[in-house]
Amino acid sequence: MRRNKISIIGAGNVGATAAHWAASKELGDIALLDVAEGVPQGKGLDLLEAAPIEGFNCRITGTNSYKDTADSDVVIITAGLARKPGMSRDDLLLKNAEIIKEVSKQVAKYSPEAFIIMVSNPLDAMAHVAMKTTGFPKNRIIGMAGVLDAARFRTFVAMELNVSVEDVHAIVLGGHGDTMVPVARFCNVSGIPLTTLLSKKKIDAIVERTRNAGAEIVNLLKTGSAYYSPASSAVQMAEAILKDKKRVIPCAAYLDGEYGINGLFIGVPVKLGAGGIEEIFELELTPHEMEELKKSAKAVKGIMSVLKM
Ligand code: LAC
Repeated sequence: MRRNKISIIGAGNVGATAAHWAASKELGDIALLDVAEGVPQGKGLDLLEAAPIEGFNCRITGTNSYKDTADSDVVIITAGLARKPGMSRDDLLLKNAEIIKEVSKQVAKYSPEAFIIMVSNPLDAMAHVAMKTTGFPKNRIIGMAGVLDAARFRTFVAMELNVSVEDVHAIVLGGHGDTMVPVARFCNVSGIPLTTLLSKKKIDAIVERTRNAGAEIVNLLKTGSAYYSPASSAVQMAEAILKDKKRVIPCAAYLDGEYGINGLFIGVPVKLGAGGIEEIFELELTPHEMEELKKSAKAVKGIMSVLKM
Protein backbone atom coordinates (compact mmCIF):
# COMPACT_ATOMS: atom_id res chain seq x y z
CA MET A 1 0.00 0.00 0.00
CA ARG A 2 1.29 3.47 -0.76
CA ARG A 3 0.56 6.66 1.09
CA ASN A 4 -1.63 9.28 -0.52
CA LYS A 5 0.24 12.07 -2.23
CA ILE A 6 -0.80 15.70 -2.28
CA SER A 7 0.97 18.30 -4.35
CA ILE A 8 0.56 21.95 -3.58
CA ILE A 9 1.49 24.32 -6.39
CA GLY A 10 2.61 27.70 -5.10
CA ALA A 11 4.45 28.02 -1.79
CA GLY A 12 3.16 31.45 -0.86
CA ASN A 13 0.96 32.05 2.15
CA VAL A 14 -1.97 29.92 0.93
CA GLY A 15 0.19 27.05 -0.36
CA ALA A 16 2.45 26.87 2.68
CA THR A 17 -0.52 27.06 5.04
CA ALA A 18 -2.29 24.31 3.09
CA ALA A 19 0.84 22.16 3.49
CA HIS A 20 0.71 22.87 7.22
CA TRP A 21 -2.95 21.79 7.60
CA ALA A 22 -2.47 18.76 5.34
CA ALA A 23 0.61 17.60 7.29
CA SER A 24 -1.02 18.09 10.67
CA LYS A 25 -3.97 15.98 9.47
CA GLU A 26 -1.56 13.35 8.08
CA LEU A 27 -3.39 13.35 4.75
CA GLY A 28 -0.36 11.89 2.95
CA ASP A 29 3.05 12.79 1.58
CA ILE A 30 3.30 16.37 0.38
CA ALA A 31 5.15 17.98 -2.50
CA LEU A 32 5.28 21.77 -2.17
CA LEU A 33 6.27 23.40 -5.44
CA ASP A 34 7.11 26.97 -6.34
CA VAL A 35 9.10 28.73 -9.07
CA ALA A 36 11.06 30.69 -6.44
CA GLU A 37 14.26 28.80 -5.71
CA GLY A 38 14.75 27.87 -2.08
CA VAL A 39 11.34 28.97 -0.87
CA PRO A 40 9.44 25.66 -1.14
CA GLN A 41 12.56 23.79 0.02
CA GLY A 42 12.94 26.07 3.04
CA LYS A 43 9.27 26.06 4.04
CA GLY A 44 8.99 22.31 3.42
CA LEU A 45 12.04 21.52 5.57
CA ASP A 46 10.88 23.87 8.30
CA LEU A 47 7.47 22.16 8.37
CA LEU A 48 9.10 18.72 8.39
CA GLU A 49 11.17 19.73 11.40
CA ALA A 50 7.95 20.44 13.30
CA ALA A 51 6.87 16.81 12.80
CA PRO A 52 8.75 15.38 15.82
CA ILE A 53 7.05 17.97 18.03
CA GLU A 54 3.57 17.78 16.53
CA GLY A 55 3.81 14.06 15.91
CA PHE A 56 2.82 13.75 12.28
CA ASN A 57 4.35 11.28 9.84
CA CYS A 58 4.65 12.33 6.25
CA ARG A 59 7.30 13.07 3.70
CA ILE A 60 7.43 16.74 2.73
CA THR A 61 9.35 17.67 -0.40
CA GLY A 62 9.95 21.30 -1.26
CA THR A 63 10.79 21.59 -4.93
CA ASN A 64 11.03 23.67 -8.11
CA SER A 65 10.54 20.61 -10.33
CA TYR A 66 7.23 19.08 -11.38
CA LYS A 67 8.93 15.70 -11.48
CA ASP A 68 8.63 15.65 -7.70
CA THR A 69 4.85 16.04 -7.99
CA ALA A 70 4.51 12.86 -10.08
CA ASP A 71 1.58 10.56 -9.37
CA SER A 72 -0.23 12.89 -7.01
CA ASP A 73 -3.72 11.90 -5.94
CA VAL A 74 -4.75 15.49 -5.29
CA VAL A 75 -3.16 18.69 -6.57
CA ILE A 76 -4.05 21.95 -4.85
CA ILE A 77 -3.28 24.90 -7.13
CA THR A 78 -2.56 28.17 -5.34
CA ALA A 79 -0.02 29.63 -7.79
CA GLY A 80 -0.55 33.09 -9.16
CA LEU A 81 -0.66 36.65 -7.98
CA ALA A 82 -2.69 37.62 -4.91
CA ARG A 83 -4.90 40.64 -4.61
CA LYS A 84 -3.57 43.97 -3.39
CA PRO A 85 -5.84 46.68 -1.91
CA GLY A 86 -8.13 48.23 -4.52
CA MET A 87 -7.57 45.33 -6.89
CA SER A 88 -10.52 43.13 -7.79
CA ARG A 89 -10.19 39.38 -8.19
CA ASP A 90 -10.83 39.92 -11.88
CA ASP A 91 -7.85 42.25 -12.31
CA LEU A 92 -5.76 39.18 -11.76
CA LEU A 93 -7.47 37.39 -14.59
CA LEU A 94 -5.15 37.50 -17.56
CA LYS A 95 -1.91 37.17 -15.61
CA ASN A 96 -3.16 34.25 -13.58
CA ALA A 97 -4.71 32.52 -16.61
CA GLU A 98 -1.24 32.28 -18.18
CA ILE A 99 0.23 30.89 -14.98
CA ILE A 100 -2.60 28.37 -14.54
CA LYS A 101 -2.27 27.14 -18.13
CA GLU A 102 1.39 26.34 -17.56
CA VAL A 103 0.75 24.73 -14.18
CA SER A 104 -2.13 22.65 -15.59
CA LYS A 105 0.03 21.32 -18.43
CA GLN A 106 2.60 20.11 -15.92
CA VAL A 107 -0.02 18.61 -13.64
CA ALA A 108 -1.60 16.71 -16.54
CA LYS A 109 1.83 15.46 -17.62
CA TYR A 110 3.01 14.20 -14.23
CA SER A 111 -0.26 13.35 -12.46
CA PRO A 112 -2.76 12.35 -15.15
CA GLU A 113 -5.11 10.73 -12.62
CA ALA A 114 -5.13 13.56 -10.08
CA PHE A 115 -8.02 15.57 -8.71
CA ILE A 116 -7.38 19.29 -8.99
CA ILE A 117 -8.54 21.72 -6.33
CA MET A 118 -8.33 25.26 -7.69
CA VAL A 119 -7.65 28.10 -5.27
CA SER A 120 -6.03 30.72 -7.54
CA ASN A 121 -8.29 33.66 -8.40
CA PRO A 122 -10.58 34.38 -10.10
CA LEU A 123 -11.09 30.77 -9.19
CA ASP A 124 -14.24 29.88 -11.12
CA ALA A 125 -12.48 30.98 -14.29
CA MET A 126 -9.17 29.39 -13.29
CA ALA A 127 -10.93 26.06 -12.71
CA HIS A 128 -12.25 26.38 -16.27
CA VAL A 129 -8.75 27.11 -17.61
CA ALA A 130 -7.44 24.01 -15.79
CA MET A 131 -10.22 21.84 -17.21
CA LYS A 132 -9.60 23.03 -20.78
CA THR A 133 -5.83 22.70 -20.48
CA THR A 134 -5.70 19.29 -18.79
CA GLY A 135 -8.68 17.75 -20.56
CA PHE A 136 -9.58 16.16 -17.21
CA PRO A 137 -13.23 15.17 -16.72
CA LYS A 138 -15.41 17.62 -14.82
CA ASN A 139 -15.61 15.48 -11.67
CA ARG A 140 -11.84 15.91 -11.21
CA ILE A 141 -11.67 19.72 -11.27
CA ILE A 142 -13.12 21.43 -8.23
CA GLY A 143 -13.01 25.10 -7.31
CA MET A 144 -12.49 25.91 -3.65
CA ALA A 145 -14.59 28.95 -2.85
CA GLY A 146 -17.92 27.66 -1.53
CA VAL A 147 -16.35 26.12 1.55
CA LEU A 148 -14.54 29.37 2.32
CA ASP A 149 -17.49 31.65 1.67
CA ALA A 150 -19.79 29.41 3.73
CA ALA A 151 -17.19 29.29 6.54
CA ARG A 152 -17.15 33.08 6.63
CA PHE A 153 -20.96 33.21 6.67
CA ARG A 154 -20.98 30.63 9.49
CA THR A 155 -18.37 32.61 11.43
CA PHE A 156 -20.40 35.82 11.28
CA VAL A 157 -23.63 34.02 12.26
CA ALA A 158 -21.89 32.35 15.23
CA MET A 159 -20.43 35.70 16.31
CA GLU A 160 -23.85 37.37 16.14
CA LEU A 161 -25.70 34.60 18.01
CA ASN A 162 -22.84 33.69 20.37
CA VAL A 163 -23.19 29.99 19.50
CA SER A 164 -20.67 27.37 18.39
CA VAL A 165 -19.62 27.69 14.76
CA GLU A 166 -19.78 23.90 14.58
CA ASP A 167 -23.56 24.07 14.86
CA VAL A 168 -24.00 26.67 12.15
CA HIS A 169 -24.61 25.27 8.66
CA ALA A 170 -24.68 27.43 5.57
CA ILE A 171 -24.55 27.30 1.82
CA VAL A 172 -23.15 29.98 -0.44
CA LEU A 173 -23.91 29.67 -4.14
CA GLY A 174 -22.53 31.39 -7.23
CA GLY A 175 -19.14 32.67 -8.27
CA HIS A 176 -16.40 33.62 -5.79
CA GLY A 177 -16.86 37.35 -6.20
CA ASP A 178 -19.03 40.26 -5.17
CA THR A 179 -22.07 38.56 -6.71
CA MET A 180 -21.85 35.38 -4.61
CA VAL A 181 -25.18 34.26 -3.14
CA PRO A 182 -25.19 33.40 0.58
CA VAL A 183 -28.64 31.79 0.83
CA ALA A 184 -29.95 32.73 4.28
CA ARG A 185 -32.97 30.44 3.84
CA PHE A 186 -30.66 27.40 3.88
CA CYS A 187 -28.65 28.55 6.90
CA ASN A 188 -29.53 26.86 10.19
CA VAL A 189 -28.21 26.39 13.70
CA SER A 190 -28.55 22.67 14.44
CA GLY A 191 -31.65 22.60 12.28
CA ILE A 192 -33.16 25.85 13.62
CA PRO A 193 -33.66 28.14 10.62
CA LEU A 194 -31.54 31.30 10.81
CA THR A 195 -34.53 33.28 9.61
CA THR A 196 -36.26 32.51 12.94
CA LEU A 197 -33.22 33.54 14.99
CA LEU A 198 -32.19 36.87 13.49
CA SER A 199 -34.00 39.86 11.99
CA LYS A 200 -33.89 40.42 8.25
CA LYS A 201 -31.76 43.50 8.84
CA LYS A 202 -29.14 41.52 10.77
CA ILE A 203 -29.16 38.70 8.19
CA ASP A 204 -28.76 41.21 5.35
CA ALA A 205 -25.75 42.71 7.12
CA ILE A 206 -24.16 39.26 7.52
CA VAL A 207 -24.80 38.46 3.86
CA GLU A 208 -23.13 41.73 2.86
CA ARG A 209 -20.15 41.13 5.14
CA THR A 210 -19.76 37.61 3.68
CA ARG A 211 -19.71 39.00 0.14
CA ASN A 212 -16.96 41.43 1.11
CA ALA A 213 -15.09 39.15 3.50
CA GLY A 214 -12.12 38.59 1.16
CA ALA A 215 -11.74 42.35 0.63
CA GLU A 216 -12.09 42.96 4.38
CA ILE A 217 -8.97 40.85 4.97
CA VAL A 218 -7.09 42.42 2.01
CA ASN A 219 -7.79 45.88 3.44
CA LEU A 220 -6.52 44.86 6.86
CA LEU A 221 -3.38 43.06 5.65
CA LYS A 222 -2.57 45.66 2.97
CA THR A 223 0.11 43.44 1.43
CA GLY A 224 -1.86 40.35 0.45
CA SER A 225 -5.05 38.40 0.87
CA ALA A 226 -6.46 35.83 3.27
CA TYR A 227 -4.69 32.53 3.69
CA TYR A 228 -5.61 30.59 6.83
CA SER A 229 -9.24 30.08 5.85
CA PRO A 230 -8.66 29.58 2.09
CA ALA A 231 -5.96 26.99 2.85
CA SER A 232 -8.13 25.25 5.43
CA SER A 233 -11.00 25.10 2.91
CA ALA A 234 -8.82 23.51 0.22
CA VAL A 235 -7.51 20.92 2.67
CA GLN A 236 -11.02 20.02 3.84
CA MET A 237 -11.86 19.30 0.20
CA ALA A 238 -8.69 17.23 -0.28
CA GLU A 239 -9.55 15.24 2.84
CA ALA A 240 -13.09 14.59 1.58
CA ILE A 241 -11.65 13.11 -1.62
CA LEU A 242 -8.74 11.16 -0.10
CA LYS A 243 -10.86 9.63 2.66
CA ASP A 244 -13.94 9.22 0.45
CA LYS A 245 -15.93 11.13 3.05
CA LYS A 246 -18.80 12.00 0.73
CA ARG A 247 -19.07 15.43 2.31
CA VAL A 248 -21.89 17.64 1.11
CA ILE A 249 -20.32 21.05 0.76
CA PRO A 250 -20.49 23.97 -1.64
CA CYS A 251 -17.73 23.95 -4.28
CA ALA A 252 -17.26 25.46 -7.72
CA ALA A 253 -18.36 22.74 -10.13
CA TYR A 254 -18.67 22.66 -13.91
CA LEU A 255 -22.39 22.94 -14.64
CA ASP A 256 -23.89 21.15 -17.61
CA GLY A 257 -27.45 22.39 -17.44
CA GLU A 258 -27.90 22.19 -13.65
CA TYR A 259 -29.67 25.33 -12.39
CA GLY A 260 -30.25 26.18 -16.05
CA ILE A 261 -26.53 27.08 -16.34
CA ASN A 262 -24.38 25.60 -19.09
CA GLY A 263 -20.63 25.36 -19.49
CA LEU A 264 -19.54 27.39 -16.46
CA PHE A 265 -17.89 26.73 -13.10
CA ILE A 266 -20.26 28.00 -10.40
CA GLY A 267 -20.52 27.37 -6.67
CA VAL A 268 -23.19 24.78 -5.86
CA PRO A 269 -23.61 22.08 -3.20
CA VAL A 270 -21.83 18.89 -4.26
CA LYS A 271 -21.04 15.48 -2.85
CA LEU A 272 -17.26 15.19 -2.56
CA GLY A 273 -15.73 11.72 -2.27
CA ALA A 274 -13.26 9.35 -3.89
CA GLY A 275 -14.82 10.13 -7.26
CA GLY A 276 -14.28 13.86 -6.77
CA ILE A 277 -17.58 15.59 -7.49
CA GLU A 278 -19.90 12.58 -7.26
CA GLU A 279 -23.14 14.52 -7.37
CA ILE A 280 -24.42 18.05 -7.81
CA PHE A 281 -27.43 18.95 -5.70
CA GLU A 282 -30.03 21.16 -7.32
CA LEU A 283 -31.78 23.19 -4.65
CA GLU A 284 -35.25 24.54 -5.14
CA LEU A 285 -34.63 28.25 -5.22
CA THR A 286 -37.12 31.10 -4.94
CA PRO A 287 -37.39 33.33 -8.04
CA HIS A 288 -35.30 35.97 -6.22
CA GLU A 289 -32.53 33.50 -5.25
CA MET A 290 -32.51 32.13 -8.80
CA GLU A 291 -32.22 35.65 -10.17
CA GLU A 292 -29.23 36.30 -7.90
CA LEU A 293 -27.57 33.06 -8.99
CA LYS A 294 -28.11 33.95 -12.65
CA LYS A 295 -26.58 37.37 -11.99
CA SER A 296 -23.54 35.68 -10.46
CA ALA A 297 -23.29 33.26 -13.39
CA LYS A 298 -23.39 36.24 -15.74
CA ALA A 299 -20.43 37.78 -13.91
CA VAL A 300 -18.42 34.54 -14.29
CA LYS A 301 -19.44 34.35 -17.96
CA GLY A 302 -18.16 37.92 -18.40
CA ILE A 303 -14.76 36.86 -17.06
CA MET A 304 -14.72 33.83 -19.36
CA SER A 305 -15.48 36.01 -22.37
CA VAL A 306 -12.38 38.12 -21.60
CA LEU A 307 -10.38 34.87 -21.68
CA LYS A 308 -12.08 33.85 -24.95
CA MET A 309 -12.33 30.22 -23.85
C1 LAC B 1 -10.50 35.52 -0.48
C2 LAC B 1 -9.59 35.32 -1.63
C3 LAC B 1 -8.63 34.21 -1.38
O1 LAC B 1 -11.71 35.39 -0.65
O2 LAC B 1 -10.31 35.08 -2.77
O3 LAC B 1 -10.01 35.81 0.61
